[in-house]
Amino acid sequence: MKKHSICIIGGGSRYTPDMLAMLCNQKERFLLRKIVLYDNESERQEVVGQYAKILFKEYYPELEEVIWTTDEKEAFQDIDFAFMQIRAGRLKMREKDEKIPLKHGCIGQETCGAGGFAYGLRSVPAVIDLIKSIRIYSPKCWILNYSNPAAIVAEATKRVFPGDYRIINICDMPIAIMDIYASVLGVNRRDFEPKYFGLNHFGWFTHVLDKKTGKDYLPKLREILKTPVDVQTEPLFQEKSWRLTFEFMSQMINDYDEYLPNTYLQYYLYPAKMKDKENQEYTRANEVMDGNEKETYDRLHKIISLGKMHGTDYEITSDVGCHAEYIVDLATSIANNTNEIFLIITENYGVINNVSSEMLVEVPCRVGSNGVEPLSVGSIPTFYKGLMENQYAYEKLAVDACLEGSYKKALQALVLNRTVINTDVAKELLKDLIEANKGYWNELY
Ligand code: G6P
Ligand code: MN
Repeated sequence: MKKHSICIIGGGSRYTPDMLAMLCNQKERFLLRKIVLYDNESERQEVVGQYAKILFKEYYPELEEVIWTTDEKEAFQDIDFAFMQIRAGRLKMREKDEKIPLKHGCIGQETCGAGGFAYGLRSVPAVIDLIKSIRIYSPKCWILNYSNPAAIVAEATKRVFPGDYRIINICDMPIAIMDIYASVLGVNRRDFEPKYFGLNHFGWFTHVLDKKTGKDYLPKLREILKTPVDVQTEPLFQEKSWRLTFEFMSQMINDYDEYLPNTYLQYYLYPAKMKDKENQEYTRANEVMDGNEKETYDRLHKIISLGKMHGTDYEITSDVGCHAEYIVDLATSIANNTNEIFLIITENYGVINNVSSEMLVEVPCRVGSNGVEPLSVGSIPTFYKGLMENQYAYEKLAVDACLEGSYKKALQALVLNRTVINTDVAKELLKDLIEANKGYWNELY
């Protein structure tokens, strides 16, 4: 079997350590010769790099090369897979994305609504620049992209790199939700075959099938989840905002008598309620900075000072979280051409036959060494079609605004977004967002 080389872009991210552990866990199936960490910020990159050195020495000694760098040429040459997970403006800007809309009476969320719009206009130029650079040094590598807001980023990569089928945009949220389903049913998530349609952070499970028997768990899941769940064993339930999000699934399931919704729909279907739950002084960005992010780097610092992991409290386990699992599973399916099914953000072209052909939909796809092959969904009911067409028009206008530098389209995008709607509010919001994002956004005229 061929040995591959990979580069993790956003190598200094709090998500990188789990990805590295997953690469160790998966080394029999996904053979590697080289791992590169790339980040534009050397300080955090250095911490993760020092950690990686210890980890691989103990758990992956057969790796030929491990480097961490802030130099694009060094990072992107001779790469088979690029895992992209950048956050343009980091958590400091996420905090603004969440707090500015709240000030104007709209929900403040990282990827949805006006906050997601602001993040999108930062993310798109950054992702495009990186992909251009990757394509200079490794024209044929697979680019597996988690960078958010994935819907807007995917629309932009489709336009700027048409036909480049080796760029694949993904999201782990449906997988995180399936982990909850697996927990409440007492089965293994990997035994599920999901039937799902929608846009990114805007979709529905229509069936949750057992891969072996074909049994559909959806009716049973709907019954169980009509009552708020508390799955103590799931790490996400330890964090207040995620616990509330998963609890709220029950409301959506009670109000809509078909399917199982992606948790992010709560922001679009109940914007007023969601806004009232938020604390303007302390949002999810604050929770992450004070919690998960701090804990991650504290742990890395401890490992670095110990100089080892074997025989300490920091041994790696098989439980690395779905974010890391999903991207490594996807790369493995491409590398070994096993054609497994993944939920991917991809061009519609009739997969859902009664929505726009050019729409970027999130649907089950087979993925192998020739890329992504979407599985047919058929037609969807009017309610979902209406929601999706509206949301997709918003996403397109957001990308237009960014690529054309158009103020008019930025305003139209915000007004179309279900969490904003009002033109007067949109104008005020846009004024504040432009000011806050100076130096990140392309200028709007
Ligand atoms: C899920 C979503 C991501 C999102 C993340 C936020 O994983 O799929 O798109 O960025 O949640 O999680 P956080 O813990 O940073 O709030
Ligand atoms: Mn996501």
